[in-house]
Amino acid sequence: MSEEQLVVVERDGAVGVVLMNRPKALNALSDELMGQLVAALEELDADESVRCIVLGGGERAFAAGADIGELAQASPIDAVASPRLLRWDSIRKIGTPIVAAVSGYCLGGGCELAMLCDVIVASETAQFGQPEIQLGLLPGAGGTQRLTRAVGKAVAMDVVLSNRFLSAREALQFGLVSRVVAKEAWLEEAKRVAAEIAKKSPVALRLAKEAVDAAFESTLRTGVEIERQAFGLAISSEDAKEGMAAFLEKRPPEFRGQ
Ligand code: CAA
Repeated sequence: MSEEQLVVVERDGAVGVVLMNRPKALNALSDELMGQLVAALEELDADESVRCIVLGGGERAFAAGADIGELAQASPIDAVASPRLLRWDSIRKIGTPIVAAVSGYCLGGGCELAMLCDVIVASETAQFGQPEIQLGLLPGAGGTQRLTRAVGKAVAMDVVLSNRFLSAREALQFGLVSRVVAKEAWLEEAKRVAAEIAKKSPVALRLAKEAVDAAFESTLRTGVEIERQAFGLAISSEDAKEGMAAFLEKRPPEFRGQ
């Protein structure tokens, strides 16, 4: 394995910033890049002083998808049962909230990666797509499911079948992203949102993230039950006592993650 640094990690107070760094290939998600990415995210997730993570790429591309050179060599077994696929599950399991900072191309596995994040901040230059159909393929890391749940069947079918790219404004209109920002502000704005999230109770953040994801991943009945359990846990936390006391005493809360 080469020593090339395909992922750059920075700290900005309680925010961990992870930037994919393979600009010549538009951050194509090679095996090595994915390995470094998961390792970086897991390390930040295990660090209690990190309360929110920003995941970004470069100005020209968040990521242009799986590495097609590698994909062309993959066997059917690699494609359905490789341990590499577990990396996508590892990203889903990160408990710390993740803000995706998307500028430029966000395609294929890149779009699937952004959809695994919790909040997507998009530059006005961002373009979202699932171009696998051009290769005689279909999305293979959750795209057919997460995109459909995010934007509905009509738009998802259009994107997946016709290779339609969505502009940042369209992605906002269809509910794929929550904020569109000026092109020069894509990373700063994502960091600002992450810093805002990082001020909240880490206990409540993790529980709230799981509860919202349950809306994606389970039935309404199960999701409401998960929410109820999460609320019960949150209200017994020190952070909730502090949050409510601070409100009543008209002062800012100091959350300790207890
Ligand atoms: N894999 C490997 N290399 C890639 C890549 C990818 N997904 N996307 C771009 N690159 C490389 C190009 O080969 C090129 O390398 P060279 O300079 O060595 O030739 C470099 O990045 C710059 O790309 P272009 O010259 O093509 O740049 P462009 O501005 O003309 O076009 C683009 C940009 C429209 C994004 C085009 O690069 C493109 O279509 N990329 C492929 C997008 C794609 O099909 N993604 C889906 C991959 S499959 C997948 O993701 C499966 C899954 O679900 C997990």
